[in-house]
Amino acid sequence: MASSSTHVYLLSSVFLMIFFQLSSHQQLCRKDEYLALMQFKDSFVIERQASTCPKVDLWKSQGVDCCSWEGIWCDQNTSHVIGLDLSSSCLFGSINSSSSLFRLGHLQYLNLALNNFNFSKIPSAMGNLSRLTYLNLSGSFFSSQIPLEISKLSNLAKLDLSFNLDYSHQGLLELKRPDLNNLAQNLTKLEWLDLSFVGINSPIPKALANMSSLTYLHFGQCGLFGKFPTNIFQLPKLRVLDLDNNWQLSGSFPEFHSHNQLRVLDVRNTTFFGELPVSIGMLSSLEYLDVSSCNFSGLVPPSIGNLTKLHVLNLPNNSFRGENAPFFSNLTQLIQINLKLNQFTFSEVPFSLASLTHLIKIDLSFNHITGHFPSWITNLTDLRQLGLGSNKLQGSLPSSISRLKNLETLFVYFNNLSGIVEFDTFLELKSLKSLELGFNNFSLVIKTPTNRTIPKFKLLGLASCNLREFPDFLRNQSELNILSLGSNNIHGQIPSWILNMSANLWALELSHNNFTSFEESFLVFPCPSLLYLDLSFNFLKGSLPIPPLSILFYLVSGNMFTGEIPHQFCNMTSLQVLDLSHNNLSGMMLQCFGNLSSMLVLNLEGNNLHGLIPETWETGNKLEAIKMGQNNLHGRFYGTISIEVPETNFLFPKLRIIDLSNNRFVGTLPIDFFARWNAMANLDGENAIYLQAYKRYLMVNLLVVPFQFPYSMTITNKGEKMEYAKILEVFSAVDLSCNKFDGEILEVVGNLKGLQLLNLSNNILVGPIPTALGYLTNLEALDLSQNKLTGRIPTQLTRLNFLAVFNVSHNHLTGSIPKGKQFDTFENSSFGGNLGLCGMPLSRQCNYYNSEDLPPPSPTSKGNEVSGLLAEFSWKLVLLGYGCGFLIGVVIGNIVFTRKREWFLKTFRNRHP
Ligand SMILES: *[C@@H]1O[C@H](CO)[C@@H](O)[C@H](O)[C@H]1NC(C)=O
Ligand SMILES: *[C@@H]1O[C@H](CO)[C@@H](O)[C@H](O)[C@H]1NC(C)=O
Ligand SMILES: *[C@@H]1O[C@H](CO)[C@@H](O)[C@H](O)[C@H]1NC(C)=O
Ligand SMILES: *[C@@H]1O[C@H](CO)[C@@H](O)[C@H](O)[C@H]1NC(C)=O
Ligand SMILES: *[C@@H]1O[C@H](CO)[C@@H](O)[C@H](O)[C@H]1NC(C)=O
Ligand SMILES: *[C@@H]1O[C@H](CO)[C@@H](O)[C@H](O)[C@H]1NC(C)=O
Ligand SMILES: *[C@@H]1O[C@H](CO)[C@@H](O)[C@H](O)[C@H]1NC(C)=O
Repeated sequence: MASSSTHVYLLSSVFLMIFFQLSSHQQLCRKDEYLALMQFKDSFVIERQASTCPKVDLWKSQGVDCCSWEGIWCDQNTSHVIGLDLSSSCLFGSINSSSSLFRLGHLQYLNLALNNFNFSKIPSAMGNLSRLTYLNLSGSFFSSQIPLEISKLSNLAKLDLSFNLDYSHQGLLELKRPDLNNLAQNLTKLEWLDLSFVGINSPIPKALANMSSLTYLHFGQCGLFGKFPTNIFQLPKLRVLDLDNNWQLSGSFPEFHSHNQLRVLDVRNTTFFGELPVSIGMLSSLEYLDVSSCNFSGLVPPSIGNLTKLHVLNLPNNSFRGENAPFFSNLTQLIQINLKLNQFTFSEVPFSLASLTHLIKIDLSFNHITGHFPSWITNLTDLRQLGLGSNKLQGSLPSSISRLKNLETLFVYFNNLSGIVEFDTFLELKSLKSLELGFNNFSLVIKTPTNRTIPKFKLLGLASCNLREFPDFLRNQSELNILSLGSNNIHGQIPSWILNMSANLWALELSHNNFTSFEESFLVFPCPSLLYLDLSFNFLKGSLPIPPLSILFYLVSGNMFTGEIPHQFCNMTSLQVLDLSHNNLSGMMLQCFGNLSSMLVLNLEGNNLHGLIPETWETGNKLEAIKMGQNNLHGRFYGTISIEVPETNFLFPKLRIIDLSNNRFVGTLPIDFFARWNAMANLDGENAIYLQAYKRYLMVNLLVVPFQFPYSMTITNKGEKMEYAKILEVFSAVDLSCNKFDGEILEVVGNLKGLQLLNLSNNILVGPIPTALGYLTNLEALDLSQNKLTGRIPTQLTRLNFLAVFNVSHNHLTGSIPKGKQFDTFENSSFGGNLGLCGMPLSRQCNYYNSEDLPPPSPTSKGNEVSGLLAEFSWKLVLLGYGCGFLIGVVIGNIVFTRKREWFLKTFRNRHP
């Protein structure tokens, strides 16, 4: 933001300078240039939008002296046109090298920004305008490779090719040949360079550090990668350095010196890392510091307190820590401070903010801040946004909060705040649009008299606020986008007015209440803009409500819906998460689920569905999790799903979780098929990043409503059914237990390198345990129990340093049990029911005269020795009963916010559907 205002500021100063130099003199323009200009103008359609683009329109009425036309300047001696500013002139049309523009050979200043050149290439004839010192083609729909000829413009002081975007905001221009290095070597006089959204897609060349005239450098979202050359920070005149949104660009901050003139330093959404150096306090001109969403860590140095000109301090989504921060008190110019999503452990909201009376935005959410809700904060009466959510604040919310008359956003969700909150307190806050109080220990009291005006909210988060009925004032909340009333004690019917209250409702969260039905029956859910609907864990009966076509998330787990899944779901092409689990749905599986190409999570677990799983799946679909366990699905799985797909074109490129347990599948185990699933094979790569980015987008930007991602797994151990709810951002599991799969487990299973849970128990598998399982070094749970496996337990399995759960009981295994590492922690229940097994922990000793009992040959140990890491893994075991087919009654909702191990766990109450 600061960079764009600097931009505007510098632009207008150049404009004024030229204007005053030139406009005070009268001269007649040259006829050839007059004609060239008229011809240039006539080569475009003027896309008139009201009266916003008068420039070229006025030309005719301003006479024949083009030197007096708006947007044109001539040299006072020669009368040549030397300046042309047609920015924002609503020009529409193509341009090429034969354009009459290039007959204006004396141009020094050319600004065509903010027009629509209809995806033209930048004409190579631009290189003939060799006197140009200023060239601005930003935001004008220029596309493809920037011509080599641009690098001939060696007099350029300012070059702006930024923001040439298509209609879906993708960059259109590319810089390959010439590349950035060519530009840097030839355009040595450049002071200002803005290539934002130009596809540079290379590392930053060292030559850039020789451009000693540079004052302004902006490379936003240019696909830069590699390491940022540190000496660019030291360029003597540099004032603005903005490298935002190059997420593969790495680097760290150097030692700064006192002669450094930086005013704007923005590296947000890159992979810059390391600590903020103490010498950052030397940047005495710094006004804007944004390192959001990088990999910074360590303490924030107290020298930050030296940056007394700072307006904006944005450090969110890093790993910064600190126990106190007295140094903020010096930053008296601060307007915005954002420390969200870090590891700060302040014992109170830093009191050093109390004197910063210009503050408009404070966001300290998602840290570990303790203490009381600060009453002094109500003195900061300019505040518009206050975010303290997801910390450990306790005590009450002071009613003096009503002094913050300008407050638009108040987020205090996920704290330990308690006491009675009078809703009336918020009625003083006339600007309040977003209020999130959810998941504290509040009792919200709403006794609003009807004659009070209530702000029209956009977002209301009242989850877990001890509500016993629907707040009546909601009837008039016609502008609500997001409403969360989950985890309250509201019972009975869902009133029909709540569904008609706002035409723009995007998200409605009513989970974990005691709703039994809808007041009014309907065929299609009557909220036309709904993206997110959560009705999970109520007592809703009857047929499944059909959401509107706009829906992205539809969650109704843990109710008592019956009947078939309506075929209308086949038309919901936007659906990303569909969770119908743990209801009483019956009928045939909808085959069209395989064609819903936006789907990420499909959870139909724990119903009574019949038939085959979908036979065709969209190639390259986005599915990350398929859960169809505990149904009556059958068929020869292998036959239905094995479709010829070229090796390079993965059928399920993103799939990481498949649960088909507790069904009636028969046939050979489809392991070789899974082994071609890209995502399970490469967990560390792009997929993980994709998922994180996606979740972050949803959680932080779109929906503040807590949402549950169904990442829990069941596994049989010691004959008991357990649920493991591992809270992980990246989770990868195959559960085919409790079916009738036969045949051998093939060695290709070793390709599923990212796999964390493999459950093949309770089938009729034969043959040996493949040694290749030893390659699945991420495996944390392996259950092969209750099969007909033979042979020895491969010693290679001792490589599995993370293995916490292991079960091969009730097979026909023989020989000695491997020793060492994790294997020393497993109990005899892991091995029981195999008459031929011997050695610890079983009581049967091995007889080494018997060749069967001899230990298998030792593998060459290559695995890295990571012991003690196990402590990091916190499987949550929930005992659930015995045998196959037992119903699961616990849902773990988890919310993942960052790319680091930031997660939040909420265990909701048990419910047996
Ligand atoms: C650099 O500029 C010189 C002279 O201005 C020109 O001859 C040369 O082609 C330019 N180099 C590139 C890579 O454009
Ligand atoms: C981060 O940058 C990448 C491009 O490098 C972009 O696609 C993504 O949307 C950005 N993320 C955020 C949160 O702005
Ligand atoms: C604070 O700034 C002054 C000059 O403005 C400088 O002399 C001093 O070294 C700085 N302190 C730190 C810790 O950076
Ligand atoms: C406040 O700034 C002054 C110099 O501007 C510096 O000497 C002092 O140490 C700073 N105080 C804190 C708490 O950072
Ligand atoms: C807040 O304002 C009140 C009265 O306006 C004043 O008495 C109090 O000292 C202020 N608190 C802080 C921390 O500035
Ligand atoms: C609302 O009505 C009550 C009486 O019903 C009255 O005491 C109060 O002053 C009224 N408030 C406003 C803002 O009109
Ligand atoms: C909601 O249901 C739970 C579980 O059945 C019950 O304990 C509770 O009393 C019910 N609450 C209300 C308000 O009906």
